[in-house]
Amino acid sequence: MKITVIGAGAVGASTADNIIRRNFAEEVILLDIKEGVAEGKAQDMMQTAALLGFNTKLKGVTNDYAQTAGSSVAVITSGIPRKPGMTREELIGTNAGIVKSVVDNLIKYSPDIIIIVVSNPMDTMTYLALKSSGLPKNRIIGMGGALDSARFKYQLATKLNASPGDLNAIVIGGHGDTTMIPLIKKATWNSIPVTHFLTEEEQAEIAQKTMVGGATLTALIGTSAWYAPGAATAAMVESIVLDQNRLFTASVYLEGELGQEDINIGVPVIINKKGWDKVVPIELDEQEKQLFEASATAVRNMNNVLKDSNIL
Ligand code: NAI
Ligand code: 2OP
Repeated sequence: MKITVIGAGAVGASTADNIIRRNFAEEVILLDIKEGVAEGKAQDMMQTAALLGFNTKLKGVTNDYAQTAGSSVAVITSGIPRKPGMTREELIGTNAGIVKSVVDNLIKYSPDIIIIVVSNPMDTMTYLALKSSGLPKNRIIGMGGALDSARFKYQLATKLNASPGDLNAIVIGGHGDTTMIPLIKKATWNSIPVTHFLTEEEQAEIAQKTMVGGATLTALIGTSAWYAPGAATAAMVESIVLDQNRLFTASVYLEGELGQEDINIGVPVIINKKGWDKVVPIELDEQEKQLFEASATAVRNMNNVLKDSNIL
């Protein structure tokens, strides 16, 4: 299968790197608007093939969408981060223009494509990609919950001195510092509730550290993270390509599920060759329900900027 990654910046390059190392795709196209950047990074990564033992072919291109023709899956990481003095509306306006034109170009050359949106503000950009493309809802997926859930497991594993792979824990809601909801009461350590091992204060601390996970890294590094975002995105691509039916939290279009409609927000879904296949029913307690409603309101307010700016 052929996969396209749009944006050869930090997250796009990390996504491509993770995909080729896992050796499940035949061909990956890495596309950027900056002349030579995607070509250079692709060559650098291909020079690891003999060392790492993969056969996937990665090719970098500068804004040449004809090269993406026949892709089964695309990942959109193109966009700009918010700069000092920039309003949220300006950021959304710029990234919305980029996401919209990228989606149009992808569909032109690959009408059956499944699209994973990574660019921020991710839930709103995913909503825009769906509404502006007219693609079936199952073929547009936002990546955020897979990353936030991995960060949640990291915090749990650190506190419990556990192996991260032994933890089962998800984050739902919007992909934002105040909108995501780490479901700590539902988290388990190989089926044993983690709440058995943690005080209320420790649980609150783990949830809080998870929620500011992205901001913590941005403060340390000076730009947003890319290793875990790339790994999370590649895992979702793999589940589509290999039809693995893996359960991820992803931002998908709700039509009544969890009491919400006309919104893209993080909920547990099955990811397979259809894209996202179905929302996995989840029972929320009263507090979790209230948090989810507040998160949906915040995401909707962000979506309204698209409408107020006549983008949608
Ligand atoms: P970056 O600045 O390193 O890379 C962005 C790349 O997009 C640049 O190389 C730029 O030339 C390219 N680009 C801009 N306009 C383009 C266009 N029209 N067509 C093709 N390429 C274009 O940024 P980074 O760190 O890779 O982040 C990318 C996006 O992902 C940001 O919006 C960031 O906030 C978001 N992000 C989302 C996460 C999530 O969990 N959803 C996690 C981490 C980052
Ligand atoms: C992250 O969570 C900023 O969305 C980006 O790292």
